[in-house]
Amino acid sequence: MATKVVMPTLGLTMTEGTIEEWKANEGDKVNKGDVLFSVSTDKLTNDIEAEESGTLLKVVHPAGSVVECKKTIAWIGEEGEAIPEDDGDEAPAEDAAPEAAPAASAPATASEPAADGKKSVVVIGAGPGGYVAAIRAAQLGADVTVVEQEYLGGTCLNVGCIPTKSILHSAELYEQVKSQAANIGVDVEGVSVNFGQVMKHKSEVSAQLVGGIGGLFAANKITKIDGSAAFTGEKQLEVTKADGSKETLTPDAIIVASGSVNATPPIPGVGKDENPACIGSTEALELEEIPKSMVVIGGGVIGLELACAYATFGTKVEVVEALDKMLPILDQDIVAVGVSHLENMGVGFHLSCTVQEVEKTAVGGKVKCVDKDGNNLEFEAEKVLVAVGRRSNTEALNLDAAGIKNDRGRILVNDKMQTNVPGVYAIGDCVFGKAMLAHTASAMGEVAAENIMGIAAEYDQSTCPSCVYMEPEAASVGMTEDEAKAKGLDYKVGKFPMMANGKAIIANGGEGLVKIIADSKYGQVLGVHIAGPRATDLIAEGALAIKVEATLDELIETIHSHPTISETMREAALDAEGRVIHMPPR
Ligand code: NAI
Repeated sequence: MATKVVMPTLGLTMTEGTIEEWKANEGDKVNKGDVLFSVSTDKLTNDIEAEESGTLLKVVHPAGSVVECKKTIAWIGEEGEAIPEDDGDEAPAEDAAPEAAPAASAPATASEPAADGKKSVVVIGAGPGGYVAAIRAAQLGADVTVVEQEYLGGTCLNVGCIPTKSILHSAELYEQVKSQAANIGVDVEGVSVNFGQVMKHKSEVSAQLVGGIGGLFAANKITKIDGSAAFTGEKQLEVTKADGSKETLTPDAIIVASGSVNATPPIPGVGKDENPACIGSTEALELEEIPKSMVVIGGGVIGLELACAYATFGTKVEVVEALDKMLPILDQDIVAVGVSHLENMGVGFHLSCTVQEVEKTAVGGKVKCVDKDGNNLEFEAEKVLVAVGRRSNTEALNLDAAGIKNDRGRILVNDKMQTNVPGVYAIGDCVFGKAMLAHTASAMGEVAAENIMGIAAEYDQSTCPSCVYMEPEAASVGMTEDEAKAKGLDYKVGKFPMMANGKAIIANGGEGLVKIIADSKYGQVLGVHIAGPRATDLIAEGALAIKVEATLDELIETIHSHPTISETMREAALDAEGRVIHMPPR
């Protein structure tokens, strides 16, 4: 039976291609593996091989035609064989809305502009989602009001990313002075941690950045209301202000950016009220003294970053994780580097270990667990850090009054960040099914603001990096090797150790590696994973590679400056192509 030849999909975002040239004419014999035609997109030209042997019965689209991916462009079969009248192409399917999310519904611009001709937008929450959304909407001409109940900058700037990174920087410097200074010819006497100053510096950094947002609001003429907002109707909010007064707002559009709060697992004895030794990440960033010991429940991002900081300051840390691996979101080759570093610092890791109860003791708390073999394990410590995830902060918003669909409080949105209610958008940690990260919230904020202001925009998670600021840093974008395997993809892997890079040796002794996953046929970069110094900065090249559908060749042909750690990226690409320079051949 005749087989159809279709326009291939050569990249994650390719929707159509131009047939540059047919290498065979109708009636010619072709063999499987012969180049049959060449196709070009805006960024690449590829020769496409015949997948079947036979006679080229019919060319449906001649050279020069632009054809949608997966559409039939030719038929191959037995000589003289008839081809089906129906070319088998189905009508183009509508873009499916994300599972459990509302389809793109009414246009973003649901209401008429305000009396002064400006569209009015209210943003609930001034975290990295809300404040970025507010600035973008103001740039595009909206009259923007932000309602914030606590602090500008949200969790990220006040009790999350920024304070954690500031404390980790103190820890890193302390560790470097202890472990490297003498070796590299810098003698430091009596190095010690002044924990009060660590915390003071952290607070100053946060305050500086929070102040910066205040300045940006003023410069963009954004109104800030100190208070909390709750829905009283579809696009109607009641704001309870800090002074107790109330105001009703009925803007043209609303962006919900209310973030998330630490989740408390249903484990007996784990509540802060029951036992002050049990703390969440917020309290861990406000301690007055370095604890002698700490049990971390949850080997996720928060758990490992804080385990790293406190272990460096001298705390004896034990990490208890319910799953059989740490940081399942990252490529496990990368996780292994960080875990082994922390183990060398004395951190204990206990996998497949389920916490049953936390008992209050004179020391602080005793964490009682059962491992996968049914053994009972106990870890007693001054502090028990509960880092088992975060939940959306929407309880007080009264989503039901507006009829906003949600999954246990996490708001359902499409890629335009629209909820099911026209004119109401949601972004950041309070939405369902997306990464809970500051940079995703900001990206979503810009998308929401642009859609409200009439610029079509969609949130694209494919370029979203995950970063873990432990020692050494870990960062990842795109597909992990496990995911490529699970999808049955034909992929190749390139790896390059930091140990073979001059700048990395100088920075941290050469601990870490870069790993690139690329599609075997065209070398398209599918995933980049890094452990090592400045991994969280380097990952931007990987994210860009994925965005522009770069191939290994393109990474290789890009000159990387020397001496830099970025050279490891190019070397990993070279390794995937079997031509690595600074390592012996595999
Ligand atoms: P997480 O989801 O990353 O990790 C929580 C871990 O706790 C999981 O591995 C889970 O298996 C484990 N767990 C859950 N219940 C448990 C139990 N009863 N006993 C033992 N282990 C248990 O959540 P995490 O670390 O709290 O972070 C929350 C959010 O904040 C995440 O979305 C994270 O991406 C974000 N975040 C991002 C940072 C970054 O980008 N560098 C830094 C800090 C947080």
